[in-house]
Amino acid sequence: MGARVLGRPYARRDGALWCEGVPLEAIAAATGTPAYVYSANALRERYRALDAALAAVPHRIHYSLKANSSRALLQVLRAEGCRADVVSGGELMRALAAGFAGGDVIFGGVGKRRDEIRAGLEAGVLLLNVESAAELDIVEAEARHLGVRARIAFRVNPEVHVANAHAYIATGSRGHKFGIPWGDVPGVAARALASPHIELAGLDMHVGSQLLSLEPYRDGVERLAELAHGLIAQGAPLRFFDAGGGLPARYDHEEAPDLALFAQIVVPVVKSLGLELIVEPGRFVVAESGVLLTRVLYRKPTGGTDFVICDAGMSELLRPSHYDAFHAIEAVRPRGGTRTVDVVGPICETGDFLARDRAMDDVAPGDLLAVHTTGAYGYVMALTYNTRPRAPEVLIDGSRWAVITRRETLDDLVRLEERTLDWKDTR
Ligand code: LLP
Repeated sequence: MGARVLGRPYARRDGALWCEGVPLEAIAAATGTPAYVYSANALRERYRALDAALAAVPHRIHYSLKANSSRALLQVLRAEGCRADVVSGGELMRALAAGFAGGDVIFGGVGKRRDEIRAGLEAGVLLLNVESAAELDIVEAEARHLGVRARIAFRVNPEVHVANAHAYIATGSRGHKFGIPWGDVPGVAARALASPHIELAGLDMHVGSQLLSLEPYRDGVERLAELAHGLIAQGAPLRFFDAGGGLPARYDHEEAPDLALFAQIVVPVVKSLGLELIVEPGRFVVAESGVLLTRVLYRKPTGGTDFVICDAGMSELLRPSHYDAFHAIEAVRPRGGTRTVDVVGPICETGDFLARDRAMDDVAPGDLLAVHTTGAYGYVMALTYNTRPRAPEVLIDGSRWAVITRRETLDDLVRLEERTLDWKDTR
């Protein structure tokens, strides 16, 4: 299956935007705005395309929960045979609650606390990804304490250069905080191999995110393979080769990633090593399945800028203001004509925008907008700044839809605040 033919779940019918068999106007009317909407079939399609592309080698697809960890989405993916990649005790809890077995979970993350490591060991995760020599010591101590052998992978910094990535989402170059520094790996491995409480079962890397060129994988995979050869010679019982996440989504006019090329890069290397391939995609799986629905509140021309003020902003979708990320925006029912505008939210920050200097559908107060490619790193990065409750999430599957996460209430927001204070006097 050519991934380049991946479908677009959002399409126009009779002048308005639909997701699968449901008109977005009906969702907005029922739930109010802002609201996140996801297509279940878009998730399935992407999972299946990647699974088919990797068919030539034993492999496991561990969806990276950090991109979107809502239970109903996890359950759609789990039903397809997908597994989970988590980076915190919280995500581990979510994965287990969604029905993933401990053995279907990889637990990574650069700053796992001791209690999180223990929770991972207790859950029997497939692999704990260790990111430093100091973390290995903690994992070993916890494994000894629990009387288990910790199955681990080394997350290695492949130290490859990735062009195009925003500085904040570049992760796999020399000097980034992630992974064991390349040159330190043999030494850390010697310690792992000497411990009866550690089973060094895998090697892992993550070269970066939104990799529009797949070439960094080629460099990374080659370097990781070199390391794998060395570790096997050192006596490591390696079983897994984890190529990380990073497959891109289409935000603007990009092409879908060439999954056949991805397979060509990764599969032969993993095959020749006799290892099982793991991938940890997040964005590729969920980004294009989602839109953020928001309503226009006001139009405000001022100082030469034509502002469209909506009921969603950086609190719902942080990516434009945090990474200067581009998200296509269209009117759900265009009224005709285009205008160059700044689409902004209600937050008291000049950096609160969804789009700047954007030629898009002309809109008026009350119009519904769809902000595209927001299934990944949208809801999970939402803020409650300015005491704004988080938007609900809706899942569409064919002609059916359901709220999967309710809108947060103002009561939810203040629930943890004490009304009477329990002062502890330290005198
Ligand atoms: N595995 C590891 C070890 C990672 O660090 C990441 C993402 C993934 C997998 C999943 O990567 P993906 O397939 O989604 O590219 N908030 C940023 C993205 C941060 C990604 C961090 N690591 C954004 O909105 O663009």
